[in-house]
Amino acid sequence: IERTLSIIKPDATRRNLTGKINAKFEDAGLRIVAQKRIHLSPAQAGQFYVVHKDRPFYGELVEFMASEPVVVQVLEGENAIAKNREVMGATNPAQADAGTIRKDFALSVGENSVHGSDAPETAKEEIAFFFSGLELVG
Ligand code: GTP
Ligand code: MG
Repeated sequence: IERTLSIIKPDATRRNLTGKINAKFEDAGLRIVAQKRIHLSPAQAGQFYVVHKDRPFYGELVEFMASEPVVVQVLEGENAIAKNREVMGATNPAQADAGTIRKDFALSVGENSVHGSDAPETAKEEIAFFFSGLELVG
């Protein structure tokens, strides 16, 4: 059993889409084992996305992620990292498969509704960034 970090981004919380998005995770067999709604500071958003600090869109990404509340959550299931990314769809909604979260809800490559960890090591780091062990309740 595997765990991954999921973030419902500001474009989605703003449009009241958290329930519809989480229904897709749960329908795919992923279990929400931790969840909270927070408003990131620009410094916190910058730290979370520090791996992208040299990319041209970094400033825009950090500003967006700190613009309004997000829902951070831990999803658990068989192959949760890959399954989550499958349910999210491609980064650019124009390239996302039918039925994925980004195809159905994302506004653009930047405002693409969800984040998901991309590998076991980053999942571990990203979960620890937001949650203590006590907050994970399988
Ligand atoms: P995450 O799950 O959010 O990490 O998405 P990803 O793994 O599909 O994409 P990646 O890690 O390459 O990029 C991280 C995030 O940066 C994306 O989800 C977008 O929100 C944003 N991003 C990526 N490419 C662009 C871009 O060309 N323009 C803008 N404005 N944002 C981008
Ligand atoms: Mg990524």
